Amino acid sequence: MAVQISPSILSADFARLADEAARVPNADWLHVDVMDNHFVPNLTLGLPVVEALRKATSTPLDCHLMIEDPDRWAPAYAEAGAGSVTIHAEAAKAPVRTLRQIRSLGARAGFALNPGTAVEPYAGLLGEIDMLLIMTVEPGFGGQRFLDLVLPKVRAARELISRHGGEVWLQVDGGVSGETIERCAAAGADVFVAGNAVYGAEDPAAAIDHLRGLAGGVSR
Ligand code: DX5
Ligand code: ZN
Repeated sequence: MAVQISPSILSADFARLADEAARVPNADWLHVDVMDNHFVPNLTLGLPVVEALRKATSTPLDCHLMIEDPDRWAPAYAEAGAGSVTIHAEAAKAPVRTLRQIRSLGARAGFALNPGTAVEPYAGLLGEIDMLLIMTVEPGFGGQRFLDLVLPKVRAARELISRHGGEVWLQVDGGVSGETIERCAAAGADVFVAGNAVYGAEDPAAAIDHLRGLAGGVSR
């Protein structure tokens, strides 16, 4: 599995998003954190910004919906041209229906678990998803400290995916940096979200190359 890096624009300058996207031409995705101040205690951006960003960059958008009622909203993000739409296990009331809708609209379907949510109860959903996101911080803010306690769950998720046999990507999000990315890769993650570690760097593109090199150097 190839390493993919998805820089989070949460750490970018919101007044210059098109320019900030252009600073990371080597990114596999642009990670877009949608927060509603209900599912998480922070408010960021929504559909109009995703629609505008879609026109401003050719990098595929990886929309991470930290919102209540993702069943209501997720399909619209796929319609807006997101390449991937991730909903949270803790918020979705009809995950199978919503994941199928995302796929039927041509986007990849992602399913996210907060640090306190176990992965085993969702093993049966692996056939419905293209990416499993294991949060490595409590969602809501960039720049938080990486939670090592989540690594055993990343390992367990990788085992479930291997046993399942399908092509499900395993993403980690939160506190991923030059300090922590190798641990995540060794545990089986293959898609890495990084906010501060990319946009907090003087040269965000060089930071992506650095992270990719570290993750790619880990034997799994
Ligand atoms: C946190 C968001 C993350 C955040 C990561 O709730 O989901 O995507 O932007 O930022 P860093 O990499 O700075 O922890
Ligand atoms: Zn995120």
